[in-house]
Amino acid sequence: MTDTARATDASSSVEAPSAEVLAAFEAATGFMPVHEGLALYAAATDAAVRTGLPLLEVGSYCGRSTILLAEAARLAGTVALTVDHHRGSEEQQPGWEYHDSSLVDPEVGLMDTLPRFRRTLRGAGLEDHVIALVGRSPQVAAVWGGQVGLVFIDGGHTDEHAVGDYEGWVPHLAAGGLLVVHDVFPDPADGGQAPYRIYLRALAEGFAEVSVTGSLRVLRRG
Ligand SMILES: C[S@@+](CC[C@H](N)C(=O)[O-])C[C@H]1O[C@@H](n2cnc3c(N)ncnc32)[C@H](O)[C@@H]1O
Repeated sequence: MTDTARATDASSSVEAPSAEVLAAFEAATGFMPVHEGLALYAAATDAAVRTGLPLLEVGSYCGRSTILLAEAARLAGTVALTVDHHRGSEEQQPGWEYHDSSLVDPEVGLMDTLPRFRRTLRGAGLEDHVIALVGRSPQVAAVWGGQVGLVFIDGGHTDEHAVGDYEGWVPHLAAGGLLVVHDVFPDPADGGQAPYRIYLRALAEGFAEVSVTGSLRVLRRG
């Protein structure tokens, strides 16, 4: 069985998003490929329907993955929460591989992905199904009072940030909820190891693997 095709009880029974939502996802600025987006959507739908709780994302960027969480939340009658300081990760800063100069606020000279994020969600017709939390993930997690049905970690990719996201948000994840980690690369030649390390930690702490799609891992809390 190939890495991208390893099966999943979460995705096998879930329909793909509508053609309109998929087109909005594909048109949005961002990095997530379609096959990983479909796996994220399947997990989000499963978590939203089973728990009825909000779906939490760390790393909104320009709203590409948020579209899928918002659509899953809309269909299940809940909401997507998405956390980002909107100043970009390390690799998105000027001079780095993933920098996009069109996302720099010329007045302050810093990245600001919030305007593009808002336009993206507005254009997809999903603005009313998303609560954007603008701030640093551990700070937001520390004051967040409720439970969530899904935690999707796609924020900063250093150990400091990945561990902060894991330790900040996993305590808010309901029993039976799903933890989704992006950019998990067991082989260091394929990418940074911080997401892989929190994925291993989740397994060691009792999460069960649900699916593997590219670099996207879906785990269920017992
Ligand atoms: C890889 S991008 C997210 C991509 C997005 N999920 C998508 O599919 O298009 C990572 C984002 O995490 C944000 N970020 C990094 N560290 C953060 C932190 N500690 N708190 C909040 N946001 C953070 C960055 O600003 C950036 O927008």
